[in-house]
Amino acid sequence: MRVLFLCHAFNSLTQRLFIELGARGHEVSVEFDIHDAVSEEAVALWQPDLIIAPFLKRAIPENIWRNHVCLVVHPGIPGDRGPAALDWAILNDETEWGVTVLQAAAAMDAGDIWAEARFPMRAAKKSSLYRNEVTEAAVQAVLDALDKFASGNFTPQPLDTSDPAVRGCLRPALRQHDRQIHWAKDDTATVLRKIRAADGFPGVLDEVCGVPAYLYDAQPEGELRGLPGAVIAKRGGAICRATTDGAVWIGHLKIKSEGEPAFKLPATQALAGRLDGVPEITANIGGGECSAIRYQEKNQVGYLSFDFYNGAMGTPHCEALRHAIEQALTRDTRVLVLTGGEDFWSNGLHLNLIEAAESPADESWRNINAMNDLTRAILTIDDRLSVAALRGNAGAGGVFMALAADQVWARPGVVLNPHYKAMGNLYGSEYWTYLLPRRVGAEHALTITENRLPLGVAQARQIGLIDASFGADPAAFLNELESRAEALASAPDYAARLAAKQQRHARDEAEKPLAAYRAAELEHMTLNFYGFDPSYHVARYNFVHKVPHSRTPRHLARHRGKG
Ligand code: COA
Repeated sequence: MRVLFLCHAFNSLTQRLFIELGARGHEVSVEFDIHDAVSEEAVALWQPDLIIAPFLKRAIPENIWRNHVCLVVHPGIPGDRGPAALDWAILNDETEWGVTVLQAAAAMDAGDIWAEARFPMRAAKKSSLYRNEVTEAAVQAVLDALDKFASGNFTPQPLDTSDPAVRGCLRPALRQHDRQIHWAKDDTATVLRKIRAADGFPGVLDEVCGVPAYLYDAQPEGELRGLPGAVIAKRGGAICRATTDGAVWIGHLKIKSEGEPAFKLPATQALAGRLDGVPEITANIGGGECSAIRYQEKNQVGYLSFDFYNGAMGTPHCEALRHAIEQALTRDTRVLVLTGGEDFWSNGLHLNLIEAAESPADESWRNINAMNDLTRAILTIDDRLSVAALRGNAGAGGVFMALAADQVWARPGVVLNPHYKAMGNLYGSEYWTYLLPRRVGAEHALTITENRLPLGVAQARQIGLIDASFGADPAAFLNELESRAEALASAPDYAARLAAKQQRHARDEAEKPLAAYRAAELEHMTLNFYGFDPSYHVARYNFVHKVPHSRTPRHLARHRGKG
């Protein structure tokens, strides 16, 4: 089928559907919802059999839905309506939620139902539920709807409001007033629910140290106590605030400013100069409740996880992780498994920290060198085998960092974006010019980096970008990961594998040293950061400040042809 995606942005859910439909042989083109006339033009050019709106913030123009079947993906159960479906589900402490695929009609989210899928709710931030449970349910429901549409004999059903099992209802948009935290009376569970219901967007507006700020990235604290609302500790980039019955860590803030638009930063950085006297708790790398980097060991396998907010890795994150790897390598294990974060493996350079720096060019330079040092530390592990285990999505330099491990394993739903060009023609480093062709060959390497398209795990496996994918859900992935890693550690050919890797490193190094790849990549990056063409700086500014798209990139809008 020819399918047109009408969407607000090519976000993770849209990318995943793009991959799934493509894998089933459908031809998918994408148009961003910028203006009704542009959407109408896209429909006229592509002549789609079906239009899908995976992530839309405005109504589809009537001219389009009256003349074409348009399926809208709504992150709510049947009957649920409104623009804040997941936010309400978290605030209301729903135990089960779902995704409904409806046909676009005059009233938003009220069209006839083509398919639905449910999932048990999890105590997590909205963006995490969206990237995991909602995305999986959306894939299931959209594929179901596509089959029904293709059969030609399915009639979508209007919502049966007389059915007592229909629990969904119209819920209004949430105002900051509805999200407000009442520190004097809200307990920890309530505070967490309120922050998570607004994380990643829009955040809960509050006052911290006398400054209005949006709160994100909340975790419960086990021991610390204090006056409700007070900032009682800091640790890494996070601040700890007391509640009526405990305390919560808040990792990121966006200051609400009247002047220069602000963006999310680690809380201590956003509050620089305002935390004097707040006691610092040593960030405990390798352990501790709130530490982003954790190390565990079992049956001769070391597991190192690094759950950085949004997968963004600034200079300090890269240095801390490299240090943690060095520490892990002092342990008596045979395999080191790097498990990234729950939602993201890594998205490469920390563009927000770079944007906030006095000299973004200098900070870009420091950050890419720290990423390179980290990648080299993984690549040169010579005394044991290494595995990159991707539980969540990876983008740009984050993908290439994973390729530095001997084995790359991924959960089936993971979306990979192994390219840099979309960020203002960034050339990229992380030894990608060595790591990518050695896995997929020169031809695929060129296609992957030039096409700037997301890659699914099945396709990534087919071309050799990754080695294996398994586990129906995150828990199953972790279980099987453990048994596979242990099998690797005790494999009869362990010594032979290790020797083969050492020989390969020596051979490759003699042919062309890693330092030569790095130097050549960094030559291009110097031009990106300091050269005449400001494209990277403009693209980064737009990305960090979330400047709305003014057009759909040509590589996605296939109906406009490649220009
Ligand atoms: N630095 C800082 N923040 C980043 C980031 C990065 N490298 N990559 C993603 N984020 C943030 C986004 O700003 C967004 O923030 P929010 O919580 O305020 O919404 C969040 O992570 C999720 O990103 P989003 O773009 O909404 O996710 P997605 O799944 O739709 O898209 C990517 C994934 C990887 C395609 C996209 O995030 C991207 O292009 N990231 C930049 C990659 C890059 O160029 N890195 C630098 C070169 S190594």
